[in-house]
Amino acid sequence: MSTFLEQRVLKCQKQLEDKGLEALIITHLTNIYYLTGFSGTAATVLITAKRRVFIADSRYTLIAKGCVTGFDIIESRTPLQVVSELLKADQVDRLGFEDQVSFSFYQAMQTAFSGVDLLAQSGFVEELRLIKDTSEIETIAKACSISDKAFMDALDFIKPGTTTERDLANFLDFRMRQYGASGISFDTIAASGCRSAMPHGRASDKVIQSGESLTMDFGCYYNHYVSDMTRTIHMGQVTDEEREIYEIVLEANKALIAEASAGMTYSDFDGVPRQLITEAGYGSHFTHGIGHGIGLDIHENPFFGKSDQKLQAGMVVTDEPGIYLDNKYGVRIEDDLVITESGCRVLTLAPKELIVL
Ligand code: GLY
Ligand code: MN
Repeated sequence: MSTFLEQRVLKCQKQLEDKGLEALIITHLTNIYYLTGFSGTAATVLITAKRRVFIADSRYTLIAKGCVTGFDIIESRTPLQVVSELLKADQVDRLGFEDQVSFSFYQAMQTAFSGVDLLAQSGFVEELRLIKDTSEIETIAKACSISDKAFMDALDFIKPGTTTERDLANFLDFRMRQYGASGISFDTIAASGCRSAMPHGRASDKVIQSGESLTMDFGCYYNHYVSDMTRTIHMGQVTDEEREIYEIVLEANKALIAEASAGMTYSDFDGVPRQLITEAGYGSHFTHGIGHGIGLDIHENPFFGKSDQKLQAGMVVTDEPGIYLDNKYGVRIEDDLVITESGCRVLTLAPKELIVL
């Protein structure tokens, strides 16, 4: 078992003890990947103080035997029955389960595990995923470098007056795959002109015109981990107002990079760039949160808002201030940052100074 996976399972077992739980059943596939390295469409994991059990049906037995180590691998099409027998053998009567399971799965557990207290756990494994180890950080860095390269290529691809937003999105998606991505981490946003005032304007058939601003928000999966970056550029001429707004958003993005470090509260992480944008007179036009965690999911903990919770070294988060003027245009600049004890490391390295094509 890789040292990284072993550490994750050990932390999971420690957390079980801390929470006074005897056992945890895990069915959320992203969490199963995190703990075992297995990726497939169905599996069940049981972790107790002394057991690590991985259950999958015959489609996945050979795959699991190749990639899952440190777990007893059991082939079964009735995993709840297997778990039930193990719980009886170990006399477990308090079982934690992930609270995002479906209601029908919950009912099936009630039937299969009668006599066992079922204790809903909110974010049990997600809590472990909050702090990334070095292998995760370097994988996210690679995903970011793929997005960076695709962005640089897109600058040559865009031909104002000819290229549609959808052409551009397709180009970015394909380029990221060519550079090694296994897919895109969310539907690519390419929004030009007044459509860029929609923070999440999905690519349409609109032609990108000279004189417009263009926001691209995109990312990829590389070895299961995501990148998420946004750049706004301009076509042809730029008005004074557009330049001013661009500079305010850039300053907000950079101010957060200068301040972010372990120990900063979630409130301050959101507040530093928001105050800067508010003082510049555009506070009511920065209509969303400053960012979110990334990792195996495109949106994961931490989520920023009014909270005294503190950033910790090893968190990977986005820094994405924006200003949106309805019916005119919008600007957003988004980077991915790893929080460190003394500051942060920026993983998205594509240029941010105003680009005019
Ligand atoms: N970049 C997409 C999002 O953060 O929702
Ligand atoms: Mn984002």
